[in-house]
Amino acid sequence: MSDGAMTQETAAATAEGAEPSTTNRSTTPTSSAFTEHIQSGWAERDEPLPAARPAAAAAAAHRAAISALHPGVRLVVPAGGLKVRSNDTDYPFRPHPDFTYLTGWGSDAEPDSVLVLEPAADGGEGHEAVLYFRGPAGRGTTEFYANAAIGEFWVGPRPSLDHVAADLGLAARDLDALDDVLADGGEALVVTGADLGVEALLPAANPDGDVLARDLSELRLVKDAWEVAEVQAAVDATARGFDDVIADLPAATAHERGERVVEGAFHRRARLDGNAVGYDTIAASGHHACYLHWTRNDGQVREGDLILLDAGVEVDSLYTADITRTLPISGTFTEVQRKVYEAVREAADAAFAIVRPGIVFKEVHAAAMEVIARRTAEWGILPISAEQSLEPDQQLHRRWMVHGTSHHLGLDVHDCAQARREFYHDGVVREGMVFTIEPGLYFQADDLTVPEELRGIGVRIEDDIVVTADGARNLSGGIPRTADEVEAWIAEVRAR
Ligand code: GLY
Ligand code: MN
Ligand code: MN
Repeated sequence: MSDGAMTQETAAATAEGAEPSTTNRSTTPTSSAFTEHIQSGWAERDEPLPAARPAAAAAAAHRAAISALHPGVRLVVPAGGLKVRSNDTDYPFRPHPDFTYLTGWGSDAEPDSVLVLEPAADGGEGHEAVLYFRGPAGRGTTEFYANAAIGEFWVGPRPSLDHVAADLGLAARDLDALDDVLADGGEALVVTGADLGVEALLPAANPDGDVLARDLSELRLVKDAWEVAEVQAAVDATARGFDDVIADLPAATAHERGERVVEGAFHRRARLDGNAVGYDTIAASGHHACYLHWTRNDGQVREGDLILLDAGVEVDSLYTADITRTLPISGTFTEVQRKVYEAVREAADAAFAIVRPGIVFKEVHAAAMEVIARRTAEWGILPISAEQSLEPDQQLHRRWMVHGTSHHLGLDVHDCAQARREFYHDGVVREGMVFTIEPGLYFQADDLTVPEELRGIGVRIEDDIVVTADGARNLSGGIPRTADEVEAWIAEVRAR
């Protein structure tokens, strides 16, 4: 970053309308000659308004659903702001997913925006949606050339209010108007945790806790057709990323930090075909595969080992995939690797087989665990019978799979986090739900309860599924799954 950058404090102050102060390393000229020069000589902008983006219709339906749950109450959903990574450099901005769900504004959303659903005037039905965001800074301001956090010269232009209104099919107002609007008082609910400044404007909001966030999480449990298509697009991009990784395995084995080669190959695909990775890539080779969320990714990738790749592309609408494949680095599973792999695959298939509307979500996990208990009993490593182990007060097989089998997936990799347990873990599965099936077996390198040949082997197979009217569709079923398919896949990519 050049020496003209301002501190975060200055950027924040400017974002709230104050003039930027100089800093210990600013070189921005302050002479009136410079200011006059840079603030003049700009062409008028006359850009045609866009048609509404496809997300707009889905977002309107989502707004109608939350509106119906809270008639007569103002609903406030902030996007949140920039978060500091280091001094005056920020993390990439990602709006709060409830904001995206209700506006359709994804990777291009503006920081500090706020959606307000105003109860219809005169006691009418529903709400009127108004999106408050920071419109473009005029050329007569210092912001556009001197504000490193939000200025056009630094981070690019912001769209106009009219542009965003047309793009998202929403009324748009400048963020400057928000304080007065919210100061009106009245009953209000706000999604908390995204923007403390907005929450401070609504001291009497949420008398019964985070009801709005809870209700949005519960609405988000069932995806509409547009959302399912977005997850499918994320899955398809992820499949291309897995191909890229296989093509790069020779480079990975040749590098002392081969896991980083794998992470980098996937990241390149995520940025090319989507917005980003939906979560930090897990590139876990050899015994690292037994660390469930291994994201350090600084290990070697060795011939003869397995590599567990858990990765997902997040598309521009911010829906993400979450897929795991475990690959033999040489291209061929050893006998014992194949035995473990196929047991996990059998558990995944058993879980998938029971999914249909009307079952209870936790039954999916139970179906997978039955296979895991039986196989580990058969192999003689479970000290009690599978039946005994499956009893709630035993569960010894869980030593080798301590995580759950499924979680909802969508705008968050672990979606719908505020939903109540009776609608999630203990909830009835409904058509349109999208969740993962991801059993695994992990034999730590120093696990003395298993034979030496199993130690250091970690396998997970993770697919993303959508519940249909009478069953389920595997959105990631096109990515090879069986041991034979995986070997053929690696051979095919290597032959390209
Ligand atoms: N990638 C994290 C998980 O599978 O839940
Ligand atoms: Mn997952
Ligand atoms: Mn995963």
